[in-house]
Parts: sequence; C-alpha cells; structure tokens
Amino acid sequence: MKNRILYFLCLIILNVAFGEAFSQDIVLPAPNTTGGKPLMQALNERQSIRTFTKDDLTIQQLSDLLWAGWGINRPADKKRTAPSSRNIQEIDVYVTVSTGLYLYDAETNNLKQVHNKDIRALTGTQDFVAEAPVNLVYVADLSKMGKKEGDEIKDSDLLSSWANTAFIAQNVYLYCASENLGSVVRGLVPKAKLAPEMGLRTNQVIILAQTVGIPAK
Ligand SMILES: Cc1cc2nc3c(=O)[nH]c(=O)nc-3n(C[C@H](O)[C@H](O)[C@H](O)COP(=O)(O)O)c2cc1C
Repeated sequence: MKNRILYFLCLIILNVAFGEAFSQDIVLPAPNTTGGKPLMQALNERQSIRTFTKDDLTIQQLSDLLWAGWGINRPADKKRTAPSSRNIQEIDVYVTVSTGLYLYDAETNNLKQVHNKDIRALTGTQDFVAEAPVNLVYVADLSKMGKKEGDEIKDSDLLSSWANTAFIAQNVYLYCASENLGSVVRGLVPKAKLAPEMGLRTNQVIILAQTVGIPAK
C-alpha cells in the first residue's frame, strides 16, 4: 500500500515538474470528405464574422475544417485541398485553442502539441481572438525554400507564401459557410510578439491568422 502511494506521489510530482514535456497530441477523427452545402450556396454565404460564442467546435468539425483548409486529398501524391507554388507546401497550419498550441499534421491527421499554453489572445489585436475557440496561424516554413536560420528574408521571398496562404484561408471560409460556422482571416497579427511564443525559428514566418468559431446570434 505504502509503495502504491509513493508511486502515485512520484507520478504527480513528475507531471507537475515536466508537464510540458509530456506532449498531449490530439488524434483527429477521419475527416468527412463528402457532403456539406453545394459549392454555389457556400460561395453565396461566405463572409467574415467577428462575433463568436465561447463554445468549442466539435473534434469532428476541427478535423473537417483542417482537412478542407489544407488536408491531403490525393494521398498517393501527398497533394492537398489547396494549391501551392511548385507544390512546395511550405505553409504550416498552427492551431491555437484553450488547451495549447498545436501543429496540424495532414499526413497522420494529428494535432501535434507544441505547448500547453493558451496563446489565443496573442494571435491578434482584436478582442474576439482571446475567446473565439480556434485561431489558426498560417506560417511559411522557408527552410523548404532553402532559407537557413539567420538568413535575410525579404518581402519578395514571401510572395508565393501569401498566395498559398490565401487559398487555404478561402477553403476555411467556404467550409465555415457550409457548416454555419463563423470565420475571419486576419492580417492584424502582432507577429514579433507571437513568433517567440510559438517557438518559431527565424526562417519560419507568420503570414496570416484566421479565427473560427460559432457565430453569436
Ligand atoms: C489579407 C487580409 C487581411 C485581413 N485582415 C483582417 C484583420 O486583421 N481583421 C479583420 O477583422 N478582418 C480582416 N480581413 C477581413 C476583411 O476585412 C474582409 O474580408 C472584408 O471586410 C470583406 O468582408 P467579407 O470577408 O465579409 O466579404 C482581412 C482580409 C484579408 C483578405
């Protein structure tokens, strides 16, 4: 009995001491890749929404949202729902929710936990970002374009990353229109403050953020 108590005490101490070291990845359910509203109806309903309830998306909605935005739709070629210049696929979708920061891994359909801090408020300068359930942060990984850490990055190096991100953001908008969710893509992002909180390297550049949630009536 004494040994068991000791064992559980050790577990608790280890958890408190190394809580962040034990990553809590989220295995997403397989995305629904059929159904939804007809395309023309979703286009007709696409809009930016900036008032949200505090309700969470379901895990299925999160999986579907990420697949619609930047999932793999041709597994044999690892190609995606959005195009990317020369198929470099340098955009990473980070997901900030109340339980932490995650990186969407389209191949395994997992959210890999980066850390367990709630940094939603840091993803924007507008009040709603702190309480909306999901803020996506689109990050260009320029190591895939040959940039090393410390290399100078000019605006012109980011032209295709802006275009590539815009396609993903529009996919997310259309998914939201189809699912009666609200969304707004955002350029108002305090990038210099946010990048270190996300643990980004100097050759990873935040392009845009996008809030998703249940629209307040
Ligand atoms: C590149 C880009 C950056 C934007 N940045 C913001 C932003 O920081 N905050 C915001 O509330 N809306 C932002 N928007 C949304 C626009 O304000 C919105 O699309 C525009 O008002 C038209 O409204 P609609 O999307 O409902 O058609 C941005 C849109 C784009 C394309």
